[in-house]
Amino acid sequence: MDKVDILLLGAGGREHALLMKLAESPRAGKLYVTPGNGGMLQLADVAPISQDSPTEVADWAASHGIGLVVVGPEAPLVEGVADAVRAKGIACFGPNADAARMEGSKEFAKLVMARAGVPTAAYRSFTDRAECEAYVRELDGPCVVKADGLAAGKGVIVAQTTEEALAGVEQCFGGAFGDAGSTVVVEEMLDGPECSLLALTDGTTVVPLATSQDHKRAYDGDRGPNTGGMGVYSPVPEHLVSAKDLSTMVDVMNRVVAQLRTEGITYSGCLYGGFMLTEDGPKVLEFNARFGDPETQVVLPRMHADLLEVFLACDAGTLEDTPIEWGDDWAVSVVLASAGYPGSYESGKCITGIDEASAQDGVTVYHAGTKLDSDGNLLTAGGRVLDVTAVAPTFAEARERAYAACDLIDFDGKQFRTDIGARAL
Ligand code: AMP
Ligand code: GLY
Repeated sequence: MDKVDILLLGAGGREHALLMKLAESPRAGKLYVTPGNGGMLQLADVAPISQDSPTEVADWAASHGIGLVVVGPEAPLVEGVADAVRAKGIACFGPNADAARMEGSKEFAKLVMARAGVPTAAYRSFTDRAECEAYVRELDGPCVVKADGLAAGKGVIVAQTTEEALAGVEQCFGGAFGDAGSTVVVEEMLDGPECSLLALTDGTTVVPLATSQDHKRAYDGDRGPNTGGMGVYSPVPEHLVSAKDLSTMVDVMNRVVAQLRTEGITYSGCLYGGFMLTEDGPKVLEFNARFGDPETQVVLPRMHADLLEVFLACDAGTLEDTPIEWGDDWAVSVVLASAGYPGSYESGKCITGIDEASAQDGVTVYHAGTKLDSDGNLLTAGGRVLDVTAVAPTFAEARERAYAACDLIDFDGKQFRTDIGARAL
């Protein structure tokens, strides 16, 4: 059997989960990561390159005999890393830059959705600050102000009042998100529970993965500032997402990939649909051009497939022939964060108890913001530190196992939500 050496870009819990699943493949060869984290470095070597540089990544992959480059985060995709890797004849998991605009430009995504007839919030887009302010005043009520480009998850202002909306417009055009804010999208405010649907695609075949529900606010009861995600579970039960909702969501994913194809764009990789389940059915909040974080940490453990073969098939256009099956178990993941996150926080705190937690039935601890010091001690190195994930035959059991494991882990300033999945119970 010919082995495939893999280079994985990224440093979060999502990438640790991807790496662990890829390592299970019988064909997985040598594993390299950049930049990686404390958990990933226990499985892989570091490639001394910048993940955002298309030439560095492509040249390094070519000179090290890499057979597959897997791109975790969005920034390298928008920069064209996948294009550069494919140009060297190396397989890549992740869309080329033209397709990654589904995440890289909110206006582009809105226009594709309109042409594909996909339900989403009504919107207008602006490059002129005065016109944008005038529109927000005219709306005179709740709306959502979004920087068009990538803003590391911070460029969305959910405004209840005209004042909040104007402050959001000021942030965008004032340069708080750099170039990302030079075009601004103002959207109708939607209401309802949120649901994520990830789909794998080779540009033609679209394979929806299991549903999941993220918890974006920092504190219990969905209070506090928006974060990258504080916890997640999968699947989302029927009382929250009906079979009809799910089929609408799957239809949306298919339509978007097909629409892009008719426009000459092959979307190859993972397409992430973020939906709001409104009274009028599911509507798209956003698309991402990559796996979700922390959604990946509950979706992959439930997926029965050889992830390496699946990723190669996405690149080769043979996804239709590649088997993916699902367990009927449940998964819950709780994020352990540093005190202060998503604001400023301290790093370098010693982490204990991971081995004990990982030894519990069904529990896997994915590393996010961790690093190893020169003595091999594991230290905190980010806002979101660990994703404590448990799989079990029932939702209640998965949740119990995840929280029991959280109690076994300790670091100075450990902060987490105690109500992940409460809505599903
Ligand atoms: P996004 O990065 O576009 O997913 O936005 C981040 C979060 O802002 C979403 O998960 C929602 O909670 C919220 N959001 C985005 N768009 C809307 C909208 N049109 N109406 C209400 N909430 C929204
Ligand atoms: N969990 C939200 C995201 O990955 O964008």
